[in-house]
Amino acid sequence: MKKRSDNTPPRPVTSNQTGIHPNLVTTVTKHLRHRFQKPYADHNIDAFKKACTWIAERPNPIILDSFCGTGESSRQLARQFPNAVVIGVDKSAARLQRHQVAHDEIIDNYLLVRADVDDFWRLAAEASWQLQQHYLLYPNPWPKSAQLQYRVHGSAVFPALLQLGGTVTLRSNWKLYVDEFTAALNLAGHSAHTAAYLPTITITAFERKYHLAEQALWECRYSIRSST
Ligand SMILES: C[S@@+](CC[C@H](N)C(=O)[O-])C[C@H]1O[C@@H](n2cnc3c(N)ncnc32)[C@H](O)[C@@H]1O
Repeated sequence: MKKRSDNTPPRPVTSNQTGIHPNLVTTVTKHLRHRFQKPYADHNIDAFKKACTWIAERPNPIILDSFCGTGESSRQLARQFPNAVVIGVDKSAARLQRHQVAHDEIIDNYLLVRADVDDFWRLAAEASWQLQQHYLLYPNPWPKSAQLQYRVHGSAVFPALLQLGGTVTLRSNWKLYVDEFTAALNLAGHSAHTAAYLPTITITAFERKYHLAEQALWECRYSIRSST
């Protein structure tokens, strides 16, 4: 398929789903009951160790910026929360390599690591990390009905996200994704809800792209106080 140029307005998400996935309840319930046993990849273990070494020298509250892409949001969050440490995680080396730094502004309370969240979240949960905040900004929507297991809330790694705790902020331009995420949190006993999100400043490339295209944005922001 031909790659779309960066200047092409993004299309709204289209899906063969018209509402919450019919298998959401059974899928989430199954994952909440059964441990995700996929073995860890060595490179994800190495990335997690690197993050552990880095935070060991900085005993501050941890903000995780999962699916950070180029890390623009990680840098912005680090600027916004100078008393926290921000770890941006993305599995794409190509995206991370496009991280941009303004050299006239020193921001040293963030680290970008290349890792798959499927492993990173579980490793962090096993190490008893408790996050102050967890951002999930515009994860890939996987809009086909058959792709539920690739969405955060339909994945076997969802319980690790709950264990990591903190104030979770998920944003998407696909309302159904946020509605499903909210419904999954509800199934886990958390009374989250979906809200419209209108950015005053945009902090990721995708957020900016959707906002400029006047697409509605949606957010679930919820504080997970107790680990599950
Ligand atoms: C749609 S982009 C959004 C990037 C950024 N948050 C933004 O808003 O510009 C989704 C990102 O998630 C990353 N990603 C997808 N699955 C992942 C996984 N399992 N672990 C880590 N990163 C993942 C992709 O590499 C991509 O950079």
